[in-house]
Amino acid sequence: MEKSCPTNLHFLSPATIGSKSFSNRLVLAPMSRASAKPDGTPTREMANYYADFSRGGFGLLIAEGAFVDDICSQCYGNQPGLVTNSHEAGWQTVVEAVKRENGKIILQLIHAGAVSQSVETTFAPSPVRPRGQMLQGYGPRQGHYDVPRELSVNDILSIGSAFVEATMRAEAAGFDGVEIHCANGYLLDQFLTPETNLRSDTYGGKLENRLRLTTDILSMAQQRASPDFIVGVRLSQAKATVQDYFWPNGLEDARVIFSEVAEAGADYIHLASEKGGYTYHSTAKTGENLTAFARSLTGLPVIANGGLQDIGLANQIIEDQLADFVSIGKSAMLNPDLPKKIASGAPLRDFTFDMFKYGVSVNAQLKWEAEQHA
Ligand SMILES: Cc1cc2nc3c(=O)[nH]c(=O)nc-3n(C[C@H](O)[C@H](O)[C@H](O)COP(=O)(O)O)c2cc1C
Repeated sequence: MEKSCPTNLHFLSPATIGSKSFSNRLVLAPMSRASAKPDGTPTREMANYYADFSRGGFGLLIAEGAFVDDICSQCYGNQPGLVTNSHEAGWQTVVEAVKRENGKIILQLIHAGAVSQSVETTFAPSPVRPRGQMLQGYGPRQGHYDVPRELSVNDILSIGSAFVEATMRAEAAGFDGVEIHCANGYLLDQFLTPETNLRSDTYGGKLENRLRLTTDILSMAQQRASPDFIVGVRLSQAKATVQDYFWPNGLEDARVIFSEVAEAGADYIHLASEKGGYTYHSTAKTGENLTAFARSLTGLPVIANGGLQDIGLANQIIEDQLADFVSIGKSAMLNPDLPKKIASGAPLRDFTFDMFKYGVSVNAQLKWEAEQHA
């Protein structure tokens, strides 16, 4: 069980992003649950799944990465998309269920690039085979990644437009905003990372160029969406394929990345910290705390992540103004009412990878839960 509840819970205080206010600073981290229909349409079951987190007290939900085109962006089988009218209608049902619980919800938008486990031919900034193996629990493909085909400049422009079209659909479906996924080794992060971007055109070379597709998407999405619609960005050092990765030039890289995304119009910065957790992976190679740095450099709201069901650490992050929000991933899957539990001092259920024994989908979890209670 997690540690007991400190008396002054700073993360339960209200906060804002742009003109939108949130009842507390606890955010559901985006988590791909591969539970959509085969064509990527979100289901009624996903609506119930997301509504549970709002009923449980999360001030903001960030829904799992949705793919943005029907060409090569899809990461996994049964991943939701936001490309067609059917996808949009499915997401509208999810948003309505969340709003009925007085919740707020942002949709993450993603392109898999070289690490798609779904498409036959993968595309990426450069023909570099991703390190590691395809993720278990997700399908349909497993094993080594293929060498991707290099994207042409026209392909890159089309991908930028696809992110913007998906943003417009997200607003039409009723979302409070979108989060552009430039993290964890997916396409936009493949552009950002020197070892997967060997280009010599305006999308390769110096860091500003490697970030160009992300900053173009942020500024185009901001121009097209309504002023109060949130357009945020998710960044990370680590990658699903290279878990111990750090930005090679430490704080200097962070300075360029944070200031460029702020300049492009990001409404918030969400820094993911997976395996090593917040303390390890939200620290630059040069030793500085990155969420505090992002906050002071840009003045934007910053969402911290990584093992922050640790109430003491989460509370300290908010109290010391190292970040404005904390996002919770794995622990939330077993505690959709985590904010209510924390507020009442009730113990949290401990996360265990055993819950994925039948797969990562919502139904697989229900099957595992039933077994626990048998
Ligand atoms: C099953 C699962 C699916 C995930 N899917 C996504 C995703 O779609 N987009 C994303 O940015 N991160 C994804 N993540 C990473 C989480 O958002 C989060 O950064 C990570 O789990 C660390 O936070 P935690 O320690 O609170 O779990 C996923 C993590 C898990 C466990």
